[in-house]
Amino acid sequence: MSIIVLGSINMDLTTYVPRLPAPGETLFGTSFITVPGGKGFNQAVATGRLGSTTRFIGRIGDDPFGHGVLDLIKDEPIDTSGIMIDSHHGTGLAVISVDDQAENSIIVISGANMAHNQEEIDRTKSALEGARVLLLQLETPLKTNLQAAELARAAGATVIFDPAPAQALPDDAYRLAHVMTPNEVETEVLVGVRPGNVAEAKIAAAKLRARGINIAIVKLGAQGVYFESESESGFVPPFEVNAVDTVAAGDAFNGGLAVALDAGLSLAEAVRWGAAAGALATTKPGASSAMPTKEELMELVN
Ligand code: RIB
Repeated sequence: MSIIVLGSINMDLTTYVPRLPAPGETLFGTSFITVPGGKGFNQAVATGRLGSTTRFIGRIGDDPFGHGVLDLIKDEPIDTSGIMIDSHHGTGLAVISVDDQAENSIIVISGANMAHNQEEIDRTKSALEGARVLLLQLETPLKTNLQAAELARAAGATVIFDPAPAQALPDDAYRLAHVMTPNEVETEVLVGVRPGNVAEAKIAAAKLRARGINIAIVKLGAQGVYFESESESGFVPPFEVNAVDTVAAGDAFNGGLAVALDAGLSLAEAVRWGAAAGALATTKPGASSAMPTKEELMELVN
């Protein structure tokens, strides 16, 4: 059994600052790192490090950032042969600031990520045999994501759709994905309710399910996670950790969730794995660099 991740891959240019700058303000930062990121790639690194056989399908530019990314990811435990080098578009970039409270702001320049086309669909199709889970996000075109979801569903794989960054979605997205995992901001864009607590997350999940999604998982950040399917629902409280950088915590959540579902665990346990992976990702700097290992996850969930 295995996981396929179709999605974005970026070079993340991350500055650490005491606080996020106000408009027109110049601030001195404390440090700077460049690490591979992108919501899709982060999720792939998470599922690989957590022990699932993982194939990542994406696109970079034929430029120094792209070649730098390839060099930095060569030791990750995932199959990256599905990354295409595009000579017409630049590598995706993310300009990130992280403050002393571990909060972040991110600006993404999509580049090659938004140039996904039939070639990504073909690569996804050939990877689907034996795959149990397909992970999707919204940093690559919605059209190709929906095509991939349709193929994966027909092949019997579970489609987990992370609607990030937020955008309103057509009915087909709710019909083709099995699981949707919005955070508070994304939930508001999708169903008009910004959940600030479990009761509001419950209302939002019901609205998401009414649109056709089988399993709604509403991520409440540091407040935990609410989940709901036709047969079960529940709330997973947050794991207590020492957070230094919240970048890619949501990606780690989806990785943990996917690995648990790939391993045949219950939905409740899978959401717990997701929450634990998300919490662990906040304890280290960077995006893909912060994805936890299986050993770290087991120590937290047991
Ligand atoms: O979710 C975090 C990711 O968002 C970063 O790695 C950055 O590349 C942006 O895509």
